[in-house]
Amino acid sequence: MTEDQKTRQKKAAVIGWPISHSLSPTIHNHWMQAAGIDGSYDKIAVGPEAIETALAQFKAEGYAGFNVTVPHKEAIMPFLDKVAPLARQMGAVNTVKIADDGTMTGFNTDGIGLVTNLKKTVPGWPKDKPVLILGAGGAARAAALGLLMEEVPLVMITNRTRAKAEAIANEIGRGRMTVVDWDDRADAVAAAGLIVNTTVLGMKGQPALEMDLSKAMKDTVVYDIVYQPLMTPLLQDAEARSLRVVTGLGMLVYQAAAAFKIWFGVDVDYDDTLRAELEGQFK
Ligand code: ATR
Repeated sequence: MTEDQKTRQKKAAVIGWPISHSLSPTIHNHWMQAAGIDGSYDKIAVGPEAIETALAQFKAEGYAGFNVTVPHKEAIMPFLDKVAPLARQMGAVNTVKIADDGTMTGFNTDGIGLVTNLKKTVPGWPKDKPVLILGAGGAARAAALGLLMEEVPLVMITNRTRAKAEAIANEIGRGRMTVVDWDDRADAVAAAGLIVNTTVLGMKGQPALEMDLSKAMKDTVVYDIVYQPLMTPLLQDAEARSLRVVTGLGMLVYQAAAAFKIWFGVDVDYDDTLRAELEGQFK
């Protein structure tokens, strides 16, 4: 291995615009230290016009790879040498690996992050029942793909703007997705074993999500990908009804774990030290 290749295995970063609030450096630097990897993970503000320059710099400086966040997840694709099939289906890349020869491959670990968080938090989640996804942005698409891969019988999707839900169902559903009208979402709850909020509603500074859970089954799991606050009004309501809940921070952690594996080949977990460090910021 040359000196250059050795360095390549040890540096990573996240690019976005803005990027100052990213938690990814906390997560990856924790794992690098725990795994004994002598390197660093930085956050780098990259404006839309500077993507190509940033990529050339990462290549020249021997980075193992990098994460991509808002607003570059789609825009990055034409600059990459390869895009993995799942990222292609999602229409978005959140992780790029730079091979020793400089080849850049795009991946998307958001769906696997969402599903891993679910499985770790509620190992017995009712995967034999339909899922109800609220929202139809990039996160909803990742959730739908991740859950379809888990072979749930049906994914119901509902969104204020129905056409966006229809587009997702048509593009990735392969007959296993149906669209529910936003006004009918409380009725769809009756059939759902898992309800996932992927809208921004419930986030600090946003209105609460209006979601009537009164028709939920006893074993229904309610998952909110919003993690600021950790216990959103939706999750508080679910918990008050004795439903099992999944908070959103773990999705961020497990999508990062999948990226870490892609770059460094090391399996990492949401250990207690990391949990305390992250959750402390959102209580
Ligand atoms: P991301 O790509 O991160 O998932 P996004 O594309 O901005 O985010 O999607 C935000 C989601 O929140 C959308 O489903 C949006 O609904 P529309 O497609 O109708 O815009 C949903 N959303 C935002 N504000 C909302 C509101 N006040 N009521 C209902 N849904 C809302």
